[in-house]
Parts: sequence; structure tokens; C-alpha cells
Amino acid sequence: MHITPSGQSHGATVTGLNLAAPLAPATIAALRQAWLEHGVLAFAEQDLTDDDLERFTTYFGGFGQDPFIAPIAGRKHVIAVQRNKDETASIFAEGWHTDWSFQVAPPAGTCLYAITIPPHGGNTLFVNQRLALAAMPAALRQELTGKRALHSARVAYSPDGMYGKSDKASGRSMKIIANETAMVVQAHPIIRPHPETGIEELYGCLGYIVGIEGMEDAAALDLLKRLHAWQTRAEFQYDHQWQANMLVMWDNRSELHRATGGYEGYDRLLHRTTIAAYAG
Ligand code: SIN
Repeated sequence: MHITPSGQSHGATVTGLNLAAPLAPATIAALRQAWLEHGVLAFAEQDLTDDDLERFTTYFGGFGQDPFIAPIAGRKHVIAVQRNKDETASIFAEGWHTDWSFQVAPPAGTCLYAITIPPHGGNTLFVNQRLALAAMPAALRQELTGKRALHSARVAYSPDGMYGKSDKASGRSMKIIANETAMVVQAHPIIRPHPETGIEELYGCLGYIVGIEGMEDAAALDLLKRLHAWQTRAEFQYDHQWQANMLVMWDNRSELHRATGGYEGYDRLLHRTTIAAYAG
């Protein structure tokens, strides 16, 4: 197994493994360390079935709970991130986020396997929140210290949200199920130690974050906008370019990510699983 840093702020490529075959415990332990260190790991040229994707996911924990997107036929834990060549719906997940941060115990990680990749565009951007916090100006860090953000899926998945009633006529190929459960709010610290490394990081961003505990809306929004501008800066980013048959896993505790467009006229299809919160 060889781990090659991306040459950008973080992220790495792993070669020398065949993920279609079971991995030895020592290999899994080494991958876990690499995942914690680099935040995003990419494995090219992997010919994987959904069984292989599920087996790989469970090396790192149980399956996460994936609300609001129906699983693909015959699977409970695999969703399709999909856009057809003639689709005019907005790009799915184009805003910065960390997966399902509005949950009580959000997923530790996400695995995304590329099946059909357009010839250009469709990169996934990642931005590392350990780096963003470490370089943060002291005054902004002071403002955020001790604060808990209010996370909710309502902006995206409530009936009046981005993927709700108004999205119905868009012809979106993804199986999104918007409903009232998206209104629930869950607090998480904005600065917190990573559950496995203990290193302090920022968690989440405006979008799934809809407020700050104990702050009035206008003041919270002002602070969250300034946080967003800092935590998504280019110097903390990794711009991931896909190939078909590539698997990527990322650490949702230390990464924000977002999809990008630029592939009109081409299909794009990936299968996604989430890794449950770290159980210790
Ligand atoms: C996601 O947020 O899971 C989708 C990322 C992508 O489509 O690039």
C-alpha cells in the first residue's frame, strides 16, 4: 500500500490495494490512520460492486443513517448521487456542508464510488477544518469559542426547502424525500476536538447551521457568515478530480465538501454510503 499526498493542502491517493477483495486488519488500521491524517483518501482503478462498497464502508464503523434520499433498489445503505445529461435541476449538494450534521450522532465519514464520470467538470471540493482552525485569526476564534451551532436540514430538505415542493418539477433524477422531520434542530460545538485524534477543529458551516445557541438571529448570521468566509478559503481546500472506478472516502468530522457542475450534456453517477459516528 502506498499513500501519496495530493500536493494540495490535504488529501491523498492510495495505491497498491484491491478493494474488491477483503482487506487484512493491519491494512484497515493503516488506512484509518491515513484517513485521519489526510482527511480525504482516493483509490483509483477499483472495480467494485455495491457489496464491495458496503464491505469497505463497514471496515471503519457501522452504516450511518441516511435520511431524505431513498436508497437504490435492493440496498438499505447505498444512495445514488446522480445527474442525467439532459437534467436541468440544480446541482445536488453544491453548497459547502458536512454530511448530515443535523443528526444527534452525524456520520464519521462518507464513501463515494464513481460509476459514470463526465469528461470534464463535476469535481468535488473539500476544505479541511483542522487547517482552517489552526490558521484562524485569534479574534474570530475568540468569538467562536464555547459557542454551539444549531444544525438543521430545513433549508435543504423541509417541504419549503431547496429540495422540497419547489424542486418537484425540476426533473431531478435523485430520489430526494423532503419532509417535516427536516425542521428538527440539533446543537453541536463549533470548535471541538476530533473524536479520534483529539485535535481541535471547526465542525459544520452555514447551510445546515441555521443559528447559534443563545444568540439572536442577526448577530448569529453575521458571525456564521464570517466563519464561512474563513473556513472555506482556497488555501485549506483539496480539489478532487474524479475518474470512473475511483472510490473516495472522507472524514466528515474534519472536512466540509461540495459538488461542482460544469458537465452539462453528460451523465454523472456515483454510489454513496456513510460510516456511522465513531463508537470508540
Ligand atoms: C455529496 O455531497 O455527497 C456529493 C458530492 C458530489 O456529487 O461531488
